Amino acid sequence: MGVKIAILREQAAGERRVAATPETVKKFIGLGAELAVETGAGVTASIADQAYLDAGATVADRSAVLTGADIILGVQGPDPASIASAKTGAWLAASLNPFGERERVDAYAAAGLEALAMELMPRITRAQSMDILSSQSNLSGYKAVLDAAAEYGRAFPMMMTAAGTVSAARVFIMGVGVAGLQAIATARRLGAQVSATDVRSATKEQILSLGAKPIFVETIAGIEGEGSGGYATEMSEDYQKAQAELVSGHIAKQDIVITTALIPGRPAPRLISDAQIASMRPGSVIVDLAVEAGGNVEGAVAGEVVERHGVKIVGHRNVPSRLAADTSALFARNLFNFLSAFWDKDKGAPVLDAEIGDAIRLTQGGKVVNPRLLT
Ligand code: NAI
Repeated sequence: MGVKIAILREQAAGERRVAATPETVKKFIGLGAELAVETGAGVTASIADQAYLDAGATVADRSAVLTGADIILGVQGPDPASIASAKTGAWLAASLNPFGERERVDAYAAAGLEALAMELMPRITRAQSMDILSSQSNLSGYKAVLDAAAEYGRAFPMMMTAAGTVSAARVFIMGVGVAGLQAIATARRLGAQVSATDVRSATKEQILSLGAKPIFVETIAGIEGEGSGGYATEMSEDYQKAQAELVSGHIAKQDIVITTALIPGRPAPRLISDAQIASMRPGSVIVDLAVEAGGNVEGAVAGEVVERHGVKIVGHRNVPSRLAADTSALFARNLFNFLSAFWDKDKGAPVLDAEIGDAIRLTQGGKVVNPRLLT
């Protein structure tokens, strides 16, 4: 018998995704694994238990699924108490939020689990297909535009009607990483006039190639090229001041603003002040995709749509979960691409290499081992 892979039903409030789909179940079985899915795991992502059964998995309650499992897959890290029956040495691969949920990491170590934090996947070419941050951010960027459109009391495209012309919405995207690029593309498809800004100079070309207008601080250098590992760092005070002035002039003329700016390991940078919100015309909409990381927008509230100065500020939590069927399909493929890339045919099980294994492994042999958690 091959390795047993357990798929958990997510328990976190508002989490609708699932870590495997019938497609990935079939592919894992093709590698020789045995798949056990917790009852109801896929329901909120529009996958019935029967679809997992048809794909060749067993479907059972949590304790049966965990019994003898070698690999446990989840979207978010499970409550350690809820997987107490997992066997020593089992792998747990999910988005484990190791810096925010440190106590859980310690509990996984104490339980003898080998916890693998998928969000720490290095940003190297061969790991692109395993990168959950990219796959989930991509659809978040798309959904942010639709959420803005739904809150906006006007249309996005210019429309010429017998009763007169409706003008195009002006959409400004702040932060042009994976989510921002998809937001630009989506807003353009809906017919909006789109502009965008970032601190990394490499994004200027990308903005232009999507048919949007780059709005950049020109007086002070930003981050050259892609930045380290593709990521931004905190900017100098002078830069922040110049950026605030630039944005103030621009934002007053925008109908929709979508902010996506994140800095790894730091709170999200504050990009929009209350005074800037007040300068926008009533009925405008701001979507803060960074709201759970501290927020780019003053007054944004995680989990709520609030109104300030007649402007709606949208702060949905867990945006990927709002498109659970598609984000689950991509998340599940990320997990499959990861484990299958390391599949050792003779062992019938995955064996990680150091470059990826050491980056994502949090715990092993009863201890916390990740250098980023030991400093
Ligand atoms: P992210 O989610 O960490 O940040 C979003 C964006 O906010 C980034 O573009 C960042 O530069 C920007 N930002 C930060 N501070 C800002 C500020 N003060 N003002 C304006 N913008 C600010 O970034 P994400 O989406 O994870 O991607 C970052 C880069 O990594 C991209 O270049 C992407 O192409 C690259 N990447 C590479 C991968 C690989 O090679 N495996 C996989 C995924 C992404």
